[in-house]
Amino acid sequence: MNTEEYILQRLNCNAVQRLESVQTLWSGYGEIVRYRIKGEHCPESIIVKSVSPPTESAHPRGWDSQHSHRRKLLSYRVEANWYRDWALQCSGPSFVPECFGILEDISHENSQINAGSVQTAEKCLILLSDLDQAGFMVRKKSLTIEQSKVCITWLAHFHARFLQDSPDKTWPEGLWPIGTYWHLGTRSDEYAVMPDSPLKSAASDLDLKLNSCRFKTLVHGDAKVANFCFSQNCDRVAAVDFQYVGAGCGMKDLIYFIGSCLTEEQCHLEYEELIEHYFSQLSVALKLNNSHLDFEMVEREWRPLFFVAWADFQRFILGWSPDHPKNNGFSQKMTDIALESLVSSSGKI
Ligand SMILES: Nc1ncnc2c1ncn2[C@@H]1O[C@H](COP(=O)(O)OP(=O)(O)OP(=O)(O)O)[C@@H](O)[C@H]1O
Ligand SMILES: [Mg+2]
Repeated sequence: MNTEEYILQRLNCNAVQRLESVQTLWSGYGEIVRYRIKGEHCPESIIVKSVSPPTESAHPRGWDSQHSHRRKLLSYRVEANWYRDWALQCSGPSFVPECFGILEDISHENSQINAGSVQTAEKCLILLSDLDQAGFMVRKKSLTIEQSKVCITWLAHFHARFLQDSPDKTWPEGLWPIGTYWHLGTRSDEYAVMPDSPLKSAASDLDLKLNSCRFKTLVHGDAKVANFCFSQNCDRVAAVDFQYVGAGCGMKDLIYFIGSCLTEEQCHLEYEELIEHYFSQLSVALKLNNSHLDFEMVEREWRPLFFVAWADFQRFILGWSPDHPKNNGFSQKMTDIALESLVSSSGKI
C-alpha cells in the first residue's frame, strides 16, 4: 500500500495530494511530508513522518555503525509506540500532535527496547495532525526567557503527567528504559575518545545518580527548541519528535532544552529563575494530574540532579564534538558543581 492509499483509508477522505516536503530525516532515513486532503470531517492537511532507511547509511560525523543504525531504527519504532499507546494521555499545556494511523512494514530482525524482544520496522509511516493547522505555525532557533518559560511549562506538565514513584523495570512499555540519546550506556565510542579528566572519571557515577533516582517520569528525550512548534505570539507550544522518549529524571529534558535555545550569557543570568519556574509549574501540574505524589519529595530529589544532568550531557559533548559551542564556560561551571556534589556525597552514591 502506498502513502496516498493509506491516508485515504485511515482518514476516510475523497482525495489526497502531496503538498511539500517539510524536511528530510537524519542521514537520509526518510522525510516529513505535508499532504492536502479533501473529505467530509477531514482536516485540510496532515503531516506524514515517512521512515525509509537507506541501505547504506552515511553518518555525518563518521560514527556510522550497525549499532547506531539499529538504534536509529528502534527510535522510529519507539516513536510509533509513543503515538499509538501513550500520546493520548497528554493534555492541557503539553500539547502533542494527534496520530491518525501507523503503517509498519516489519522486518524480521529482533532487537531490544523494553519488556523483551521486539521487531524493528524497516519502513514506517506515522500520520499526524498538522500542527500549523492547529495554530502552532512558528518555529524558533533561539528564545527570550519568557518564551523559554512556555516550553518549560510544557515540560513540567508532561513530566507531572507521567511521574512514577519507583516504577518497575518493565515501565515504560514500548519506550526506552532510559530516555534521551546521549546517556552513557549508548555512548561508549564517544566515552572512549574523551581525554582523561575528572568528568571522564566521574561519568559512571553521574550516570548512576541519574538512573537510580526514585522518582522517574517520561522524558521527551530530545527536547530541543527545534522540536517545539509555537503559536503566533509564542504563548502556546506543542512538541514533536518522540524518538528518544523513555524513563528518566525530568532534569535531563530541562538542561538539554535550556542549552538548546539560550545564549551562554542568558544561561548564566537566568538558569536559577528557570529552575524555579520549572518546579513551580511541576507543583501546579502534579496537583492536577498526580496529586497522590509528594511534590516536595520529588523536588528534593530532582533539584540537585539539574547539575548532574548538565554534567552528564557535557560528558557526551566532550566525546562527540568537543569544539561544539555547547562546550562553554556555563557548561563547565555546571559540571564543576556536579563534580563537587559527587565528592561531598561520596560514599552515599
Ligand atoms: N505534526 C507536525 N505538524 C507540523 N510540523 C511538524 C509536525 N511534525 C514534524 N513537524 C516539523 O518537522 C520537523 C521535523 O520533524 P521531526 O523532529 O519529527 O523529525 P526529525 O527530527 O528530522 O527526525 P530525525 O531525528 O530522524 O531526523 C519538526 O521540527 C517540525 O518543524
Ligand atoms: Mg526533530
